[in-house]
Amino acid sequence: MRAVRIPRHGGPEVLELVSVPVPRPERGEVLVKVSAVALNNTDLWTREGAYGSAGDPGALSGWRGPIGFPRIQGADVAGHVAAVGDGVDAELVGARVLVDPAIYDSDGPDANPVGLMGSERDGGYAEYVTAPAERVHDVTASPLTDDQLASLPTAYGTALGMAERGCLRAGETAVVSGASGGVGLAAVQIARARGATVVAISSAGKLDAVRDAGADHVVDRAGDLPAQLRDAAPDGIDVGLDVVAGELVTQALPLLREGGRWVVAGALGGYEVAFDIRRLYLHNARLVGSAMHTPAQFEQLVETARRGDVAPVVSATFPLDRAADAQRALARRGHVGKIVLHP
Ligand SMILES: NC(=O)c1ccc[n+]([C@@H]2O[C@H](COP(=O)([O-])OP(=O)(O)OC[C@H]3O[C@@H](n4cnc5c(N)ncnc54)[C@H](OP(=O)(O)O)[C@@H]3O)[C@@H](O)[C@H]2O)c1
Repeated sequence: MRAVRIPRHGGPEVLELVSVPVPRPERGEVLVKVSAVALNNTDLWTREGAYGSAGDPGALSGWRGPIGFPRIQGADVAGHVAAVGDGVDAELVGARVLVDPAIYDSDGPDANPVGLMGSERDGGYAEYVTAPAERVHDVTASPLTDDQLASLPTAYGTALGMAERGCLRAGETAVVSGASGGVGLAAVQIARARGATVVAISSAGKLDAVRDAGADHVVDRAGDLPAQLRDAAPDGIDVGLDVVAGELVTQALPLLREGGRWVVAGALGGYEVAFDIRRLYLHNARLVGSAMHTPAQFEQLVETARRGDVAPVVSATFPLDRAADAQRALARRGHVGKIVLHP
């Protein structure tokens, strides 16, 4: 089969199109024929080795440590089951499926994700990929296209995890950063669907698209952010759904209401954050870290996909052999929504 893999960390030029054997599903696994695989920022950071490590922020590393090279990238797969390994119901063959890319630390509905397809095991930049049967969900009945389905796992899973960990409720005011991106646009839609008032931070050329996706207020990140946020949320912010962090955390924490929650799932704006800790404890505020989703949250997402209650925006599609161009397009940040590869 054709696959695109990284033999080492580096720029887009390290992505290599290769011919490799179709993987054999092990016991308890299924083989999925990939019809669409969506890109995520983690594809760029994993390729670059941009995650650092606890003792060495500049270390070349994947998000959970060293990457086992060569690695086929791609977390977010929609496709059809082509074969099953021992111990898996053969009735699954032919089903249209969405794969939960997470590798969890334990069994059970609230397990923590500690690995990812395309990072700790081979992913979907390929014609076929294997996955544990319990991570493969039948979405044959979904009205969404395969491109839209592939847009869900990491972006919507992460956004849903953030909303859940931030206990976002109807009637509250949520601020979403990086709102035109994969996770950000998903967070706008999820917060809106929960009945929150959504204040979205984005860049000038994308504000209309973010508003169209459901934001009640849009804020230009090039302007005076604290002033704009105060205008948009005069009674304060209940929950931040933040993939940018950096200076934004410093600026936004004092704008939280009593008992507010600021949930961080990314660091596009900077890794080092300074803030006045008094603004946290004196107001019973919470700063919450959020990595992906739990199995229970992914089940929730799959149900949403089956009902078609979500409308992922696909910004562009590329053939597999243009994976490097697709990653360059993602890095340029001109997109609104998701970029998808077709193996
Ligand atoms: N914790 C997790 O489990 C998890 C899962 C997935 C992703 N992530 C992280 O979440 C972040 C977003 O991922 P994604 O896949 O949604 O990326 P994406 O599709 O590339 O979207 C990122 C958006 O953030 C904004 N942005 C970029 N650089 C910025 C900067 N320096 N300052 C402020 N805003 C900036 C841009 O939107 P505007 O032009 O609209 O501002 C950009 O479109 C990444 O850091 C990624 O690693 C974390």
